[in-house]
Amino acid sequence: MAQQARSTRGLGPGFWPVTILLAVITAVCDYYVVVTPVTTFLREAASPADQTDELFKFLTFFGVIVMVYTVGYLVYFGIVWRKKKSDPEDALGIQVHGNFQLELWWTVLPTILVIAIGWISVKDWAGIFYAQGGQLAVEAIGYQFGWEFRYQGLQNPVPDELHLPLGVPTTIHISSRDVIHGFWTPEVRLKQDAVPGLVTTIHITPTEVGTYRIVCSEYCGARHGYMVGKLIIEPKETFTAFLDKQKYLQAHAPKGPSGLPPGVNLANGTASAGQALFAQKCSACHSLGAFSQKLVGPGLGKIFADPDHPKLVDGAAATPEDAAGIINSGFTGDMGTMPNAKTNGLSNDDIANLVVYLEGVSKGQ
Ligand code: CUA
Repeated sequence: MAQQARSTRGLGPGFWPVTILLAVITAVCDYYVVVTPVTTFLREAASPADQTDELFKFLTFFGVIVMVYTVGYLVYFGIVWRKKKSDPEDALGIQVHGNFQLELWWTVLPTILVIAIGWISVKDWAGIFYAQGGQLAVEAIGYQFGWEFRYQGLQNPVPDELHLPLGVPTTIHISSRDVIHGFWTPEVRLKQDAVPGLVTTIHITPTEVGTYRIVCSEYCGARHGYMVGKLIIEPKETFTAFLDKQKYLQAHAPKGPSGLPPGVNLANGTASAGQALFAQKCSACHSLGAFSQKLVGPGLGKIFADPDHPKLVDGAAATPEDAAGIINSGFTGDMGTMPNAKTNGLSNDDIANLVVYLEGVSKGQ
């Protein structure tokens, strides 16, 4: 073929020795890619880090070949076919088009490679997002500026530290209380956005005992850089002991505003009086819809039985005592500030009336 002869003429002096040299460089680099574990640079705390590292090696192996030959030939051709002093100003290089063999291979080989990379990626990805039957479920919730973690059987979240038992397949539900954060665990090779109003579920299995980093990987405000937590992987017994200790601490923690305030007797409350009070004192800021039907504060119509209530893991809704406590002492939180009973001009009986009314609404009465 005439076209082929023309492109061969374009190879230049020393092309084949240079090609062999590039092959040697590739072989040496890829030898080290194959024999060096990724854990030399970054520990593996949990599966799927092992699969991610395999994929990383696969990419690096072929990436080395592409890079060495591309850069190698670029430099080589740049030298041998550089414009000479004797060339006329408008000299053109040899125009190489329509080399069927060459075009066939530089289409077929990358296609096979990209399909292989896609196949492995989708397989690994599916393992993270679609794994079934995690034995343990925890929640990781980001906020400005920190992390809190909820465990089954614990009433309240635990700040800063995510404890996980070694070898137990774990489901992590990731969300945010305010803005978008990033749940990044370098040693698990996972980086997942924590988005308010959205729960993203990932699956991991801890494989090595140790303390690792949880870093916020999404710029979320002035103290984003300080938004660091700990991933602590420990033997099952230690994990059980941790949960037991948290249970004890939470049960014995001093009561916050959520206890029944002294002087309030819920048995004294009447729904009709509460209804009038709600219209007068509460309805400017609270709807009688679901929790998510926010005016200034959340909707209170289903407060005692709301599936959207923020306590996701244990499913426990607020109690009438909690509600009385919050009406009494006011509330400062993500949604703003609610004045206390004194500021609102509510007596103890008013509080009881409101709670009894809300209970009735919650039950659909
Ligand atoms: Cu949270 Cu950055």
